[in-house]
This record gives sequence, structure tokens and C-alpha cells, in this order.
Amino acid sequence: DTPNIDYIKEIKRLKKEKNAILLAHYYQIDAIQEIADFVGDSLALAQKAAKTDADMIVFAGVHFMAETAKILNPTKQVLLPDLLAGCSLADSCPPEKFAAFKKKHPNHKVVTYINCSAEIKALSNVVCTSSNARKIIDSFPKDQPLIFAPDRNLGDYLNKETGRNMLLWDGACIVHEAFSMEKLIDLYKEHPDAELIAHPESEAHMLKVAKYIGSTSGLLNHVKNSKKEKFIVATEAGILYQMMEENPNKIIIPAPAKEDNTCACSECAYMKMNTLKKLYLCLKHELPNIEVDKELAKKAIIPIERMLELSK
Ligand code: 13P
Ligand code: SF4
Repeated sequence: DTPNIDYIKEIKRLKKEKNAILLAHYYQIDAIQEIADFVGDSLALAQKAAKTDADMIVFAGVHFMAETAKILNPTKQVLLPDLLAGCSLADSCPPEKFAAFKKKHPNHKVVTYINCSAEIKALSNVVCTSSNARKIIDSFPKDQPLIFAPDRNLGDYLNKETGRNMLLWDGACIVHEAFSMEKLIDLYKEHPDAELIAHPESEAHMLKVAKYIGSTSGLLNHVKNSKKEKFIVATEAGILYQMMEENPNKIIIPAPAKEDNTCACSECAYMKMNTLKKLYLCLKHELPNIEVDKELAKKAIIPIERMLELSK
């Protein structure tokens, strides 16, 4: 064990010494968001990874995010503090099954949410995130049949938003399917003046009652710019850190989860695998290192770059 180490001080020192950039998602624990060089949503993190001049990228997020950063930076070292930090949504789309599904629909173009493996990206025409999905989908002619994978909730929401009939892969995020409508109704009774805002990975019944739907950065911007003073927030609990920091005078209430857990809101166990200690060890030993097969990366980078180009 390493009980006497000042992790924050050591992480800062190692970052400087190794010319490393620390990128963190809004779902990371508060302490990691605080020392990160950049905190953002999936799109902003991919954009940042694409243009960094650091020698090393340390990704405080989950595997698909670090993998995307590696695909964009094949010559740089990309580190993820815990290789087990996966994603239920990415796991819900196995490449062999998806390849067979795609084969059955040869006239369809494939739009995939960035929360998927490099193998799935390699089978896609374009990647998207929740902040640019609408724009990406609108870039196809109206009569172009599309497959959307892997998130059925986001796909269903986008079908309604765009008036399309995209074929949806049946995947989902456990965190965003954990909200309890029953508990939410009770909470609303206590706070009738609160506005429900939700991430589009949430289920249709949640999105139906939400007053605003958006990506993590969309939700943050909405709260900051709204005249409302009270919000119930349906996304992963990590976002509360930034939201409360930006809005000290507003009341921010996490949407309740079905299962009673310690914070009575929804937490992503994968995002929460990263700790200051793991971050320190990862910077010190330059491990675990993310590697992507060169041939696979060559195919996967095409739809990622198409997304970055369309998002300018
Ligand atoms: P965004 O930050 O792009 O909204 O993504 C949310 C998410 O679930 C990441 O895993
Ligand atoms: Fe994956 Fe959901 Fe966790 Fe995001 S919140 S990393 S989509 S499991």
C-alpha cells in the first residue's frame, strides 16, 4: 500500500514531468474533475484528444473513450487508470452479432453512438455523440435508410426528433435505465416547482416528461442559462459536481434510482472505477496502456473523423 503519498501533488508533478494531459468526463469523481486539465462531454473529449500536443493522454473515463483517443493518436501513449472501466452500452453490441445484423440490411448506412468498441466503429459510416447526433443524422438525405446503434433509447428519441425510422440496435445504458418513475412522482410532489431535465440515454417515459433533453454539456448549459431555480437531473450523479459549482444558488436534485444505493441516484460503476490512487499509479508506471490493432484503427478512424468534420 502507499498510505503517505499526496496523490494530487504527485499526479500534478508526473503530468508535468511526462508532458501528459489528463482528460476527464463529467461522470468522474469530484477529486478527478478538479485536477483534470480538461473536463467535458464525449464530443468535447474526442475533439480535445484529436488536437492535443501532449506526449501522453491519460483518460479519466471509460475504455471506449480512451480507445477513441488512441485511434486518433496512434503514435501517442494513451493510458486508462483501470482497464476494467468498460460500458454496459458498448458491451450490449457484440461485433459479430452487429456485423450479421448489418449484412441483413445492405442498403442501410450505419450511424453509431461513440459508446461502442473500435470493432463497431469500423463497421460504421459515421460516429456521433448525444450532442451532435441530430446534426449527423440530418447530414444524410431524408430517404437514406439508416441503422442506429447501440442505444435504443437515444435511437428512439432521435427517430422522434428527426422524423426518421432508423433501425435500432437493442442496446442500453444500465445507469440511464435505473431511474424510478414512482420515486420521481413522489419527488415531484415535494418539489412541484422543479424542472426535470434528462440525458437522452434515459427511457422514453422519462424523456416524455422531461422539459429539457441533452448531453452532459447540454444539461450543464441549460441549467446555467435557465431562469428556473430548481432542477431534477436524470443522468449519472457525477454531473452534479460541475452543476452545483456553476450554480451555487440553484437547487439541483438527482433523479432517484429504482434500487436504493448510497446516494439514492444513478451512478456508473465503470466511471467510478477511476480513483486518485489508480490515476497516480497509472501515470507513474505508464500502465495500463491502450493498444488498438493497426488495421482495425485504420477502419475505425474514418467514421470518427467524419464526425469531427461534421461537428465543426
Ligand atoms: P455525453 O457526455 O456525451 O453526454 O455522454 C454521456 C455518457 O453516458 C458517457 O458515457
Ligand atoms: Fe456506459 Fe452508461 Fe456508464 Fe456512460 S453511464 S459509461 S453509457 S454505462
